[in-house]
Amino acid sequence: MMKSDEQEIKNNLSKSAKLVDFFIEKALKNGSPDVLYKASRHLIEAGGKRLRPYLTLKSCEAVGGNPDLAIPFAAALEMLHNFTLIHDDLMDNDFMRRGIPTVHTMYGDPMAILSGDLLFAKVFEVLSRNLPQNISPSKVLSTIKITSEATVTICEGQALDIAFPDATTVTKDDYITMVGAKTSALFKACAMVGATIGGATEEQVEALGNFAWDSGIAFQITDDVLGITADEDKLGKPVGSDIREGKKTLIIIHALNHASIKDRETLLHALGSQEASHEDIENTITILKETGSIEYTRAIAEGYKQKALKTLEFLPDSQAKNDLRMILEYFVSREY
Ligand code: IPE
Ligand code: IPE
Ligand code: MG
Ligand code: MG
Repeated sequence: MMKSDEQEIKNNLSKSAKLVDFFIEKALKNGSPDVLYKASRHLIEAGGKRLRPYLTLKSCEAVGGNPDLAIPFAAALEMLHNFTLIHDDLMDNDFMRRGIPTVHTMYGDPMAILSGDLLFAKVFEVLSRNLPQNISPSKVLSTIKITSEATVTICEGQALDIAFPDATTVTKDDYITMVGAKTSALFKACAMVGATIGGATEEQVEALGNFAWDSGIAFQITDDVLGITADEDKLGKPVGSDIREGKKTLIIIHALNHASIKDRETLLHALGSQEASHEDIENTITILKETGSIEYTRAIAEGYKQKALKTLEFLPDSQAKNDLRMILEYFVSREY
């Protein structure tokens, strides 16, 4: 993607982040004990790309709605995202995110569990109470339904994710099912909520939801690639952690099916081994590169991107539609 486009996206993201952060800060400002609220704000204050609220605002705008009305809803969905990240880092034993220590590393496991729970409850407080007067109760109810259903799906996806390291065979289809549930479900909810607040027709809500679903898969596949190839400082989270945890990403699935017998042994040795040395991880990454597993995985992400682009054709042309196209491009071309 062109540098100028990337800069434009980053500017757009930072503008929408400012709008939603105001609502998030308000929702988490005061409370007792202070440590609980601090823990719940810990990751949020460290930044993050704020991609999901952007999807909500742009989906609202793309159907001709006023994005300002969608801001509190977008804020709630970013809070939901942060809740899943806190619990995800616990499950994945990860110590860094957004360039800082994760919540459980800073505050301990019990407080991380609680601060996640607090955020999750606050999501529904913000959705149901902190709303402008000019949104109908039925629309608000729809957003609550969409959000709670998405959270159920995320739990199902995360359950598959943590079960896969112990499963002997995990196929590409299994992987796509898992990723759809753990990541795309929230992307889809973000788009559907934005579209709903924007007054979209049922078909438009569905189309934007499908766009976000396929975009989410392209996004997560790219995330897995970055987890192997990225610069750790830029990424803000540990590189190679999926290998240590034995995660069956598409890269690993491909490599296990295509590596030589010897390389396969090396892979299986490092996969899921907490004791894997820096050198073991480096060797594994070399194998993943040599078997073409990274290129293969990038090509699959590109396929989902193309599928998502097609879905977008449903919508009338607009600046917001263009922005959605650009953010999708960013999902697969980003470096962190
Ligand atoms: C991280 O999402 C979790 C995944 C679904 C891969 P992001 O990469 O959007 O994380 P932040 O919000 O920018 O930190
Ligand atoms: C994150 O998945 C998905 C959710 C938080 C629901 P990962 O575990 O693959 O993402 P990172 O690499 O920790 O951000
Ligand atoms: Mg993780
Ligand atoms: Mg995870």
